[in-house]
Amino acid sequence: MSSPIFWKDLPQPKSNWLTGNMSEFQDENKHLILEQWAAESGECFKIRLVNQWFIVSTNEKMNAEILKLRPRFFRRFHKIDQVVGEMGLTGVFTAEGEPWRKQRRLTVQALNMKSVKSYFPVLEKITQRLMDRWAKQDPQKPIDLQKEMMRFTIDITTIIAFGHDSNTLEDTDDVIQQYLQHIFPMINERITSPLPFWKIYKQGKDRQLDKAVKELKIYIDGLIRKTKHLMEHEPERCEHPQNFLENLIAQQMVKAEMTEEEVFGNVFTMLLAGEDTTSNTISWTIFELLKSPDDLQKLVHEIDQTLGKETQPVSMEQIDQMPYLNAVIQESLRVMPVTPNLYMEALEEVTVEGLTIPKGMTVMMQNKVANTSDTYFTDAKAFRPVRWLGTCPYHSTHDPSVIKTFGAGARFCPGKQLAIYEIGMALVAILKNFEIGLAVPAEAVTERFAFTVFPENLMIYLEKREPISLISQQQSDTVEG
Ligand code: HEM
Repeated sequence: MSSPIFWKDLPQPKSNWLTGNMSEFQDENKHLILEQWAAESGECFKIRLVNQWFIVSTNEKMNAEILKLRPRFFRRFHKIDQVVGEMGLTGVFTAEGEPWRKQRRLTVQALNMKSVKSYFPVLEKITQRLMDRWAKQDPQKPIDLQKEMMRFTIDITTIIAFGHDSNTLEDTDDVIQQYLQHIFPMINERITSPLPFWKIYKQGKDRQLDKAVKELKIYIDGLIRKTKHLMEHEPERCEHPQNFLENLIAQQMVKAEMTEEEVFGNVFTMLLAGEDTTSNTISWTIFELLKSPDDLQKLVHEIDQTLGKETQPVSMEQIDQMPYLNAVIQESLRVMPVTPNLYMEALEEVTVEGLTIPKGMTVMMQNKVANTSDTYFTDAKAFRPVRWLGTCPYHSTHDPSVIKTFGAGARFCPGKQLAIYEIGMALVAILKNFEIGLAVPAEAVTERFAFTVFPENLMIYLEKREPISLISQQQSDTVEG
């Protein structure tokens, strides 16, 4: 057996003697810089950001192992907790140890498959609301798809998790949508900043963040106060909480197992974790389909065949019955993961896949690299939903186990099932009711990494599909078939 390599022996991309690799790393799209360095330096290398060293790994086996070694040997990079903690937002995503276990149990309970299936009426209602909003849209006027999808996911998350309908789809300037969008980019910027400059001097963006956090706190405090009031008047809700927030409050009021800050932090976490990830994934999926008209047509065909006269899915099972829809979603999560990387810090010295990682060292895991590597998928960089259907030419190399878009191990994303149904519901309803087209050249749509990967400038046109075109589509299918 070969002896372990120590991190100091790893290669390093070209760097400056003073700031190390920091100057290039200032770029917003940090995942792209890291991927570019990986192409030059190999699948495992070190970088220095002024005074702090990091290991960067695109090695699928190493990354999978690190994720599995939590919570004993690795935690999330402590700066995430620090930065989020300063904003007063610590919840299950950043918690560690016993607090994490307790919060994770409640989160998983709220998002397990049984609970998710019972949320169908909520998905139905909010999807209808999106369709009504879009029906009023001027077909000549492009819309920003990502922003629309953000409203869609916020409305779903707030009803499901807090029993509160924020209705951002009907209110034009709702407070949460407006302020939430400032949070992720700033967390992203601050966690890799060598010094907490914002504590010494606040720039415009720092003041904007403070305002966003303050406004969101007012919103969430109001939500918590209202729910507590309701639970005081209906004490049976403490025994049988009806949503995630009621469950958190019951733990606090009855069992004293949750602090005021933990209740607050977990409401915030659920909102943040549930909205950008899912809205960005829906947006990227539609973008991929618009660039791939054959796949779009096949999906529309499947939707028309499955739904018949219905304008949106009538059950979760109906979504499950659409193999092409599932293939499109899986392919989008593979080729355009909104979470291309995860940062994990070693809690003690540990050797993983022959590399010795010292205590306190953070590994920047670039998981997207495996998703789009020909080692694991044929023609890996291309969007080819058909590869998920088994009998296809792309199936010769096909290893879904490498995909870590939802993470892995004990801290695997508990919202995956909900997200998949939200994505499915949105895609089906949109394509059943509207003809859509890009309002800008595909090259003008860019990606921006801000903790999750956002599409920028994804402007689309939509036009109501005439029922007649659905009928003629079915007739032409019958003729062709
Ligand atoms: C396409 C949509 C989504 C993607 C790609 C995604 C991705 C992720 C990833 C990569 C993690 C870290 C996993 C790890 O460390 O192993 C995570 C954690 C988490 N996600 Fe998601 N997520 C999505 C949707 C959601 C939704 C809809 C919710 C809830 C409404 C949610 C709630 C959470 C929570 C609470 C955690 C923290 C879990 C923990 O630390 O124990 N996510 N997600």
